Formats: sequence, C-alpha cells, structure tokens
Amino acid sequence: MQFSDAVNQRYSCRAFLPDLVPQQQLEQIFALAGRAPSNCNVQPWHTHVVSGAACDAMREKMAAAITENPAGSPDFAWSGKFTGPYQERQICAALGLWEKQGVDRKDRAKRDWSWMRNFKFFDAPHAAFIFLPTGFAEELRIAGDVGMYAQTLMLALTDAGLASCPQTSLSFFPDVVREACGVDDSFRLLMGLSFGYPDLNDPANEFRTERAPLSDTTVFHQ
Ligand SMILES: Cc1cc2nc3c(=O)[nH]c(=O)nc-3n(C[C@H](O)[C@H](O)[C@H](O)COP(=O)(O)O)c2cc1C
Repeated sequence: MQFSDAVNQRYSCRAFLPDLVPQQQLEQIFALAGRAPSNCNVQPWHTHVVSGAACDAMREKMAAAITENPAGSPDFAWSGKFTGPYQERQICAALGLWEKQGVDRKDRAKRDWSWMRNFKFFDAPHAAFIFLPTGFAEELRIAGDVGMYAQTLMLALTDAGLASCPQTSLSFFPDVVREACGVDDSFRLLMGLSFGYPDLNDPANEFRTERAPLSDTTVFHQ
C-alpha cells in the first residue's frame, strides 16, 4: 500500500467482525509500530493486547464498570469539553457518526447505546491498552511519543487490511485493565484501541470525518 493510501484509508472503525488476526501477524504489526520516533528514543509505550477470550472477559468488565461508574476513574483527567472551533469539529464528528448509527441527538437512550459501544470495543476481537510509566505521567512530550506510536500502529493495521478505533474511553477504568493484565501502578493508562477486521456492512463504518483547511492549521514562512 502507498503511504498516502494508508493515511487516507485509515478511519475510526466502529463495528468489527469476530474473526481473529493471526498472532504472528499481530507481532509483526506491533513490532512495526515500535519503529515510531520518541524523545531520546526512550520508547515510553507499554502495550497490553487482549485477544479472543481475554478480550471478551475485558469487554464484560468494561461494560460493567461504565454502568456502575459513568464518570470513570481515568489516570489522566478528561473533561470531553471543547470550545470554539474545536467544539464545532467535535459536534460535527458526533452528529456524523450518530446519523450513520441511526441515533437521534435528542434520544438519550440511543446516545447511551452509542457510547456503550465503546466499552464493548465495537465488538472487536482484539483491544490494545497503551500505558506509559508513571514517572512520565506529567510529561506532555512523552504523551506525544505515545501518540506517534499509536498512529504508526493504526497505519500498520490499515496497511495489513485491518481497522482500528483509538479510544480515550478505553482509559476510563485503568484499575480494571491493570488487574486483568497484571500491570502494577508504576504504569498509567493513556488510551486504548479496538482493532480487527472491519464490518463493512455496518453503516457506522461509512462515516468519514472532514479536516479543516490547511490554512487553518498550518502557516508556511519563507
Ligand atoms: C487519542 C484519541 C482518542 C479517541 N477516543 C475516542 C473514543 O473514545 N471513542 C470514539 O468513538 N472515538 C474516539 N476517537 C476517534 C476520533 O473521534 C476520530 O479520530 C476523529 O473523529 C477523526 O476521525 P477519523 O479517525 O475517522 O479520521 C479518538 C481519537 C484519538 C486520536
């Protein structure tokens, strides 16, 4: 796949098929993601991947956790509130997805259903949880490294014919993930990622987001 095709074809997938990706292929993809750059090459990402039965068990725990505690208890604060152009883009993305999912903005129950899809990993047979060492928790630059790793991972998945959804929502219950994956509290959970083969018959996967004009985000000086 051409690099530009991988970038353009990646999208946040919100419906997956149950088929498992072979372990050897997973290892190749995650090794490729590890080629991402990082400050001083510290490679601060620590990733736990749950597949098959382990993924199903985690899905059940996540769904129970969000039902019991809708605010979550993330390691990193998250308000989900934006203003100005950022809020406009947020609303546009939410409305576009809901339209494809058949969710009316005023229908609280359907909106809850859409939100709950996150905690069920959109039915994916795999989920990755990306931690960083607690000592780096206040280091914004190190979180940037994890972002580079995550995007490299998503592009590697796209290149392999797979799809993914990066999810802050999957960081809402770090203690659940730490306990299930045997991670001690010297690691903080930044984000999760559902991934697998996309269900192309689900209308949620028809949704594509727009981007702001280049001039809104980038200034060239000569
Ligand atoms: C760090 C991060 C966290 C995200 N968290 C969620 C999430 O919890 N749930 C979700 O459905 N989408 C989530 N997204 C997906 C974004 O909504 C999506 O990337 C954005 O709308 C652009 O759409 P695209 O990925 O299809 O290009 C997240 C994306 C990123 C990069």
